[in-house]
Amino acid sequence: MNGAETNAVGKVLIDRAAIARRVAELGREITAAYRGEPLVALSVLKGSFVFAADLLRAIDTPLAVEFIGLRSYFGSRTQTSGVVEITQDVKYPLGGRHVLVIEDIVDTGLTLDYLMKNLATRNPLSIKIAALLHKPSRAIKPIPIDFLGFEIPDAFVVGYGLDFDGRYRNLPHIAVLEPDDAQLGLFPPR
Ligand code: IMP
Repeated sequence: MNGAETNAVGKVLIDRAAIARRVAELGREITAAYRGEPLVALSVLKGSFVFAADLLRAIDTPLAVEFIGLRSYFGSRTQTSGVVEITQDVKYPLGGRHVLVIEDIVDTGLTLDYLMKNLATRNPLSIKIAALLHKPSRAIKPIPIDFLGFEIPDAFVVGYGLDFDGRYRNLPHIAVLEPDDAQLGLFPPR
């Protein structure tokens, strides 16, 4: 990690070089796990699109790419409620193929818990999870993350696909959003 790198917001938690190294490692692990198997990589929108774009190019085995759009509703101001809406569903059946879910961050686990149960009804050969970030201190539902980028502390992070209020997805690194970064009281209560 390189604390000297700066950008529009927050403090750098994981710089772009560290992300690139870890994504390359994950790509090798995933390649070894699925070589020769029918595989669908399922990118969870919107947050995982940057991670997915890099990770998929680090995987050296044939695969199909699908997208699923999820919206998680917040039960309180601090955490998701477990109520999840599929805003955009996959276009092709998942039956008879291995599914690799690509997610940006596992926080309470409520969103992925819902998604895993939903996907299981579609009869894939297996379902595994690749997540860039995990906040273990916030777990409510235990989620088995098969391919994990980084464990992080309980902080609100943005960049590399993750947003606050729709912004910062295009930062090339992961930054911690701090109260000083808040504008007009918009800062999330974490
Ligand atoms: P969970 O249901 O609590 O695991 O929440 C998962 C979703 O909440 C993620 O896919 C993100 O969209 C969002 N989320 C959780 N923590 C953060 C964060 O620190 N920054 C940005 N989004 C977050």
